[in-house]
Amino acid sequence: MPLRNYESPEDYKHPAAFWRRIGKDYINMIDPADQSYKKQEAYLLDFLNKLFYSHHVKSVLELGCGFGRITKHFLNYFPLETLEVVDCSPHQITNLMISMKASSYFRTHFNYHLIDVLSPHFSAFAQKNKNQFDLVIAVELLMHVPTDNIKSVIHNMLTISREHVVSVDWAKEGEYSQGIRAPENFLHDYFELYKNDGQALHVSQCPIDSIDQSMFIVLKDHD
Ligand SMILES: C[S@@+](CC[C@H](N)C(=O)[O-])C[C@H]1O[C@@H](n2cnc3c(N)ncnc32)[C@H](O)[C@@H]1O
Repeated sequence: MPLRNYESPEDYKHPAAFWRRIGKDYINMIDPADQSYKKQEAYLLDFLNKLFYSHHVKSVLELGCGFGRITKHFLNYFPLETLEVVDCSPHQITNLMISMKASSYFRTHFNYHLIDVLSPHFSAFAQKNKNQFDLVIAVELLMHVPTDNIKSVIHNMLTISREHVVSVDWAKEGEYSQGIRAPENFLHDYFELYKNDGQALHVSQCPIDSIDQSMFIVLKDHD
């Protein structure tokens, strides 16, 4: 959800630097019990339940994992063999590891990567991990990717996926711009971006009622 305490109106141009700066306190800035988060998580989990059991999803890569608000659901509810996460903020990863440690989550092979998804490092990671994960997911990450970079981030997500890409972000048909919810938030035309990448076989946009967000579900074209 939008952060009101960004420090500079220019922060949106350098999201990784912004997130490295606020990453330590982000866990205290948001309230996961907020009704908007609850609605979003319930919607996502309902879909993931169906996807996991119909497609036997065994490996997941979560991008922009933060302190693990969504990550914990994968570990709690799904019999995964592999879960790997990516974030640019060392503090967010530390907070995630602390909360994971408090549980018996580590039945799943777990790994984290400190990567800025706008950097060449992420393109190299995508090439190295081509078709490696059944599902690549990003919740409220793409809204922080500037217009100049979004195409390549989406391309890399599709490259890494073996079967599905799922993302959740602010999305309103016909409104594609920057700064509507907060200066560091972008509204991209995700449906077209996924469709036009050339690696997608099918794209669906599922609006999440009453929170102005949508979940995008992309099935990858195997050939
Ligand atoms: C709004 S938070 C969402 C966190 C988590 N997915 C959730 O829904 O609670 C955005 C996350 O994306 C990460 N992030 C933002 N820009 C990034 C970038 N360029 N590369 C990697 N991670 C980034 C931030 O550090 C932060 O953890």
